[in-house]
Amino acid sequence: MNALEKSQIRDIALAPMGHDKINWVKTHMPILNQLEAEFRATQPFAGKKVAICLHLEAKTAYLALVIQAGGAEVSVAASNPLSTQDDVVAALVDSGVTAFAWHGATDEEYFGHIDALVHTNPDLFIDDGGDMTSLYHSKYPELLENILGGAEETTTGIVRLRAMANDGALKIPMIAVNDAMTKYFFDNRYGTGQSAWDAIMRTTNLVVAGKTVVVAGYGWCGKGVAMRAKGLGAKVIVTEIDPIKGIEAIMDGFQVMKMVDAAPLGDFFVTVTGDKKVITEEHLAVMKDKAIMANAGHFDVEIDKEALNRMAVATGMSKPNIEFFQFADGRKVYLLGEGRLVNLAAGDGHPAEIMDLTFALQALNVSIDTLTDEQQEYLNSWQL
Ligand SMILES: NC(=O)c1ccc[n+]([C@@H]2O[C@H](COP(=O)([O-])OP(=O)(O)OC[C@H]3O[C@@H](n4cnc5c(N)ncnc54)[C@H](O)[C@@H]3O)[C@@H](O)[C@H]2O)c1
Repeated sequence: MNALEKSQIRDIALAPMGHDKINWVKTHMPILNQLEAEFRATQPFAGKKVAICLHLEAKTAYLALVIQAGGAEVSVAASNPLSTQDDVVAALVDSGVTAFAWHGATDEEYFGHIDALVHTNPDLFIDDGGDMTSLYHSKYPELLENILGGAEETTTGIVRLRAMANDGALKIPMIAVNDAMTKYFFDNRYGTGQSAWDAIMRTTNLVVAGKTVVVAGYGWCGKGVAMRAKGLGAKVIVTEIDPIKGIEAIMDGFQVMKMVDAAPLGDFFVTVTGDKKVITEEHLAVMKDKAIMANAGHFDVEIDKEALNRMAVATGMSKPNIEFFQFADGRKVYLLGEGRLVNLAAGDGHPAEIMDLTFALQALNVSIDTLTDEQQEYLNSWQL
């Protein structure tokens, strides 16, 4: 069977547009270009099957093609049902990659796709958020014997991996990509900071300057989202549960308060905590009319969608990716991209250069000063 026969995708005829998108990011991903040339020559993955469960858009597609150039038989599925770009997936299949994904998959279809990916029996896999790792361990532990190891991209996935490791449940070696400084420093902060606002602005077509933006969570992603909101001219409020992060946000020039106090003030809300129920019924009850909520954390649990549906007397789509919820007192609030990570559900994800860094990680060539022997000795000494 060829890749198309094995795949479950929307429409192979979309491939030309997908190829254009991949070619565009390729011109801005010099490190991956270099790795592709190296892999093509050295074939490090010859004879190996690699499964990739990532947000399927142009940059991750290029990563899949780079791994394929290194000799691997590559299969992909999505790590989020709303971030899949059907044209990009079609281009991958057209390039010989097997794909199980379409945009807007139901939960059942989404997990069915990851199930199919697991059953390609890979030697190595890349996960983002931990759904594939979790499916392997909970449903198909016997298949783990074939696995050499995996890599996990994001904070939330690594939190899940650590929980598994602490319970003695993790049966395979995993690389915690997110623990690399080049990941959280640049990807989480600058990538999420820019791409979350790109998605919110292109989806709503509203001004940010002069508005009040509430950012929930002042970790790596939250810092980026808050920094870019300030740059756009917004008044920024941060909510936190960690007092040190709260003080850091104050020192960075933001107001810090509880969500219940910020809720009546915000025009935009962006959650980036990796936690659940960060915006709940008590906050929704006091939000302004026309408040807009978006989530940039990994799962769609940060904004309580059950509470929204319970409280609403009317709901519907105002336009693609903007759902309204009207309450009994007449107020309407809006949720972007189903409360799934907004920069991917309603945008194209991180900028190409950021993903280049993330994928290539330590293979950097930055011009920086190096310590002289004298400086090294000085910094390591304690004697007068
Ligand atoms: N959108 C993207 O493209 C993207 C990129 C990278 C990471 N992520 C995801 O974003 C989330 C955050 O990642 P991070 O690297 O910033 O993590 P982090 O651990 O650095 O930061 C999370 C912050 O949220 C705070 N927090 C937790 N519960 C809270 C609550 N109830 N109210 C307010 N603050 C709370 C924590 O104290 C912490 O400071 C994770 O789910 C991660 O997987 C998304």
